Amino acid sequence: MRRELVCTQAGTPPHLAVRTTPMPQPGPGEVLVRVQATSVNPIDTKRAEGYGQRLLGLKGAARFPLVLGNDVAGVVQAIGANVNRFAPGQQVFGLLGTGRQGGAHASHVLVAQDLLVTAPDNTDPSTLAVLPYSFTTLWLALRATGLNAGNARGKRVLIHGANGGLGRLALQVLVPWGCDVTAICGKGERQVGLELGARIAVEYGPHCIAALPTDFDVVLNFANWNDDGLLAAHLGPDARGQATTVHPLLSNFDRLGWLKGAWASHRDRSKVRSVVASRAPKARYAWTIFKPDRDALTALAEGVRTRRLGLPVGVTTSLENAQDAFHHVSAGQPGRAVLLP
Ligand SMILES: NC(=O)c1ccc[n+]([C@@H]2O[C@H](COP(=O)([O-])OP(=O)(O)OC[C@H]3O[C@@H](n4cnc5c(N)ncnc54)[C@H](OP(=O)(O)O)[C@@H]3O)[C@@H](O)[C@H]2O)c1
Repeated sequence: MRRELVCTQAGTPPHLAVRTTPMPQPGPGEVLVRVQATSVNPIDTKRAEGYGQRLLGLKGAARFPLVLGNDVAGVVQAIGANVNRFAPGQQVFGLLGTGRQGGAHASHVLVAQDLLVTAPDNTDPSTLAVLPYSFTTLWLALRATGLNAGNARGKRVLIHGANGGLGRLALQVLVPWGCDVTAICGKGERQVGLELGARIAVEYGPHCIAALPTDFDVVLNFANWNDDGLLAAHLGPDARGQATTVHPLLSNFDRLGWLKGAWASHRDRSKVRSVVASRAPKARYAWTIFKPDRDALTALAEGVRTRRLGLPVGVTTSLENAQDAFHHVSAGQPGRAVLLP
């Protein structure tokens, strides 16, 4: 039998239970992975509260009972037809999309072979399970701004939320690419930004953004939607763009319904886009939304292989004690949260 962690209904703290289901069989192109570690990301704690009901509902990913989680690290147990890159017994890690098939908080999951990569030998699965969802989102945000390894050298990048999961990974990518990074970190976390190679690191507080220079090429907002317009005002005239992961798209639809939600999102987006356009006519402005991406996974695999990418793990628990991991994340405690099924 397979064990899965279900979120039985929306609520705070989350309503969690472990249940058993029949072992699934891999279909064509699918790999059955015995999960050794999976993670609880901020999105999981929000979805457990009912966040994203309307938009995620379109993908069948909002109806309770819900199995949450996107990250997988484990061992191949069985493969379906046409699977040619993996064999039983291999150590792998990768991603599940957010959809009606359910998430990764389980003892076994089916994963499309394109969304799996081989794990380096002797790597702790916990350290792998905290990476794919966050790294993929970061990669999509970078792509949306047009920044890549080929054009990044010397670019001035401002990261808001630099001591968080996405922020740390951004520093681990952008510093080796030769970017000149300014990091806005949480209270008492400035040293994190500096240790990861930011040239300037400041702690978030009143007026901290206003005091920064106004010539950034790229802005990444991983922290606070309310700051998005202010951040945009710090782009320079030749800026490439700004990407934010903390946009109100899902919450607007949840709060206001389809029509008013669409209107509010258009208005919110236009407001910041007009600041971006007034600062830098050619700059892009993007609201990043996670979705699995093969290029991102390939870049992640290379970063893990060369030991350039990693996030600190703050807590590990069993599925039965998952409440502790969810609390760890929603309370903003340091380090990522890992479930060991
Ligand atoms: N759109 C998408 O598809 C998508 C995908 C992935 C992530 N996300 C979102 O992107 C954000 C970053 O993800 P993450 O995994 O890096 O989260 P994280 O590890 O919790 O880091 C969040 C960072 O933002 C800072 N922060 C949080 N709230 C803030 C506020 N009100 N004002 C100023 N700074 C604030 C935190 O500072 P402290 O140290 O002070 O807490 C921390 O540096 C999260 O909100 C997450 O839900 C969205």
